Amino acid sequence: MELKKTTRRTFLRNMAVSAAAISITPVPASACMTIDTIKGNVPMKKRDVKHVLVLWYSQTGNTERMGRLISKTLEKRGITVTASEMREFDLSHFPDVDLIIAGSPVFYYDTPDYAKKWIDAMPDLKGTPVAAYVTYGGPEGNQHNAACSILRHLSDRGGVPVGLKWFMNMSTFPLAWSEEKVHHKTWMSRDLPNENTYKDARAYASFLVSQVEQGKDSVFSKKLTLREMSIFFGPEWWTKKIVKNHSIDKDKCIQCGTCVDKCPAHAIDIDQFKIDRKSCVLCFGCINNCPVQAVTMTYNGEKVSGYPEFMKQKKLKIIEPEELQG
Ligand SMILES: Cc1cc2nc3c(=O)[nH]c(=O)nc-3n(C[C@H](O)[C@H](O)[C@H](O)COP(=O)(O)O)c2cc1C
Repeated sequence: MELKKTTRRTFLRNMAVSAAAISITPVPASACMTIDTIKGNVPMKKRDVKHVLVLWYSQTGNTERMGRLISKTLEKRGITVTASEMREFDLSHFPDVDLIIAGSPVFYYDTPDYAKKWIDAMPDLKGTPVAAYVTYGGPEGNQHNAACSILRHLSDRGGVPVGLKWFMNMSTFPLAWSEEKVHHKTWMSRDLPNENTYKDARAYASFLVSQVEQGKDSVFSKKLTLREMSIFFGPEWWTKKIVKNHSIDKDKCIQCGTCVDKCPAHAIDIDQFKIDRKSCVLCFGCINNCPVQAVTMTYNGEKVSGYPEFMKQKKLKIIEPEELQG
């Protein structure tokens, strides 16, 4: 019985670890089959770029940082920018803009469902040029396809795609750090965003403006890759099986509500110090944002560290782009 239990646990662990490993195994794009072609379905609303809407879904700040940097770059060119986290944006007051740029992290090889649903709730975009970006944490992480997912949802709302980009960031997937600690594996990147990442973001902002000004829309294709196929097996479901004791420590919790705000699944009842594991999507937004380390969980019998704690332990510090300093 004990053997069976251990074997099952090992199997589940290996599944999750393999899934994560897949995310860093390069697959040549040319070897892949197109599974979705994304293009505008209506003529592009072409005009001078005077007002841009920049939206992001961000759990630990990487995607927000790139969104803010893109916004600052556009503002420097004299463009009016409305920039916001999706969760804080009032969809009922949707501005008439000349370009929409939407970003999200890559979670489990795709754009998180929350971001997709949010885009689906947008009003008809009537040919507005749209662009996507993702931030991701491994040398390869299905980032092209994840960004395509954002564009797919934007074009379904009537947007006309003009660009797509991904920015490498440190992985905020806490099990990667635990694997590193327990098995001394370093296959998950610890790369922090740096000046090169910021240069790319500034260049992307300018590129998008010129695309719109020239009326150049683009066609993007989602490829069938190993990582794309692994989405079918529900990597978050596997991961949920191997994470244990996901709970809130009553003695440490200050009931600030940060975890509640971050949880896209409304799985946290802070008054009762309870997490509904059934509805939880294991995005780690709670543990990665708790200011007092009151959210706990174990993996492989080890306590999992959240993002701020890990950064502190490893003395890692992100140097912000100069536009966002101060
Ligand atoms: C639950 C979860 C799943 C993730 N899955 C992937 C992945 O499949 N591929 C990848 O490259 N990075 C993955 N990452 C890393 C994030 O995409 C990356 O750290 C991102 O920059 C986080 O953005 P944020 O700070 O805006 O939330 C994952 C992180 C988390 C927390």
